[in-house]
Amino acid sequence: MSILKEIERRRTFGIISHPDAGKTTLTEKLLLFGGAIQEAGAVKSNKIKRTATSDFMEIEKQRGISVATSVMGFEYKGKKINILDTPGHQDFAEDTYRTLTAVDSAIVVVDVAKGVESQTEKLVEVSRMRDIPLIVFINKLDREGRDAFDLLDEIEEKLGLRVTPLSWPIGVGQDFQGVYSMADQSLRFFTETLKQKIGDSIEIKGLDDPNLPKYIGSKAAERLREDVELVTGVYPAFSVEEYRKGLLSPVFFGSALNNFGIKELLDSFVEIAPAPQPKQAEERLVLPHEKDFSGFVFKIHANMDPKHRDRLAFVKIVSGTFERNTNYKHVRLQKELKFSSPTTFMASKKSVVEEAYPGDIVGLHDTGNFRIGDTLSSGELLHFRGIPSFSPEHFRFINNDDPMKSKQLAKGVDQLMDEGVAQLFTLESNGRKIIGTVGALQYEVIQYRLEHEYGAKCSYEPYPAHKACWITYTDQQQFDEFRKLKHRFMAKDKYDRWVFMADSAFSLQMSKDKFDKLKFLMKSEI
Ligand code: G4P
Repeated sequence: MSILKEIERRRTFGIISHPDAGKTTLTEKLLLFGGAIQEAGAVKSNKIKRTATSDFMEIEKQRGISVATSVMGFEYKGKKINILDTPGHQDFAEDTYRTLTAVDSAIVVVDVAKGVESQTEKLVEVSRMRDIPLIVFINKLDREGRDAFDLLDEIEEKLGLRVTPLSWPIGVGQDFQGVYSMADQSLRFFTETLKQKIGDSIEIKGLDDPNLPKYIGSKAAERLREDVELVTGVYPAFSVEEYRKGLLSPVFFGSALNNFGIKELLDSFVEIAPAPQPKQAEERLVLPHEKDFSGFVFKIHANMDPKHRDRLAFVKIVSGTFERNTNYKHVRLQKELKFSSPTTFMASKKSVVEEAYPGDIVGLHDTGNFRIGDTLSSGELLHFRGIPSFSPEHFRFINNDDPMKSKQLAKGVDQLMDEGVAQLFTLESNGRKIIGTVGALQYEVIQYRLEHEYGAKCSYEPYPAHKACWITYTDQQQFDEFRKLKHRFMAKDKYDRWVFMADSAFSLQMSKDKFDKLKFLMKSEI
């Protein structure tokens, strides 16, 4: 198959949702329909159950599982589909943001009863900043839930998405009878018997079918006809072009747990979702079908075995063909590297590959060369940008508890930060190191891993910062003034960029007002 055909048939996407909306269940059902797994429960996601928040060993166990499910590839209708898993636990939200830099589209799962939840809002916001095409799947229709029109209003309002339903539910919860497909004007019935097996549902043609009331009752039939009339009048017609530009999101309804509406979702997905997209590097826009290989690291996973400190760096291929045992340039280190066992992922199986194409993710064994955001290329000095960091929510000083192991501690901290576990800030005034995280859980992870993988011991001390703000400026004099005034709160991040460790919301606001030529950013990109 030519490289162009290989690129054209790839669909790389992520599923995003608030925890418990049904991301794991949906992923599994997509794999079942794709024939990648034979039975439900065969793939565990890297979901960290909420009950496990204080159970650190449980997280360690799940870390092992999550390597296998980081990328789940399967073939469906001639397409090569790669699902990139995103952690559900909000303490690992940064992982998800980074994964979103490697997808070409995403499916947003919304719980019909809970509607739009906080984590969905954040994830959709990040997706929209990148114009990622989004499909919305409203899940759990078998449960009592909200009115479909209300939900769509909420999605438009809270998520800022322009939507158009491609299917429409007939009732909800106890009264849920199935969905009407706008695309082919057919009805699919939800029956209890379908719950256990995957198969075609019963179909009839069109809303004017005289048999309609016979199947769903005359009241439901009347309501459906009214609803559909309203839907067609109110919502824009679906346009693939608009969807692919991230300007219009089709909405589907179903129940992942009951296999209902999944096939329709998958069938539409393979038809409309975009193939691998061009990616902006600092130097230029890189197109997938270019001859030379390029790709970037969006995730690094540590080895579970503490005796082998090697890691797996996940590279999204942007252009060209990646080949095994070929020299590639590690742009940041200006170093040639060759990989003897690049890995790709099919369902939960890993295997060594000879070649991989744009849209694919390869796992590269790494002994400490890679950092999230690094570019690998056939030789051109490209720097892919856009891996986001957000201001952490928690801050603590890190102390070395074993003076004989300071080198190990420094190396460990350095590598954990390369993996993106947390962010490191160094205070200008005294050189003390502060670790910033999204959730409190990471402190435990860091402490445990430093001890078990690097033989170093650390402890923490509270550092009462409100936010870390990256500072950019055009006026050197004003910056120097600010730096002098806020000397105690100035720090550098891992990339040597200036950060203001704002002690309170008030102090941040005062600084913004007084130093109008400085920009205080809650988010930065590398
Ligand atoms: P997540 O990855 O987004 O966090 O959600 P997950 O798929 O784990 O689903 C969360 C819970 O919702 C699970 O129940 C799952 O079985 C249930 N669920 C998912 N889809 C549907 C659906 O269409 N209908 C109904 N009624 N429930 C659904 P749980 O009891 O928390 O977990 P489990 O013990 O079943 O795994």
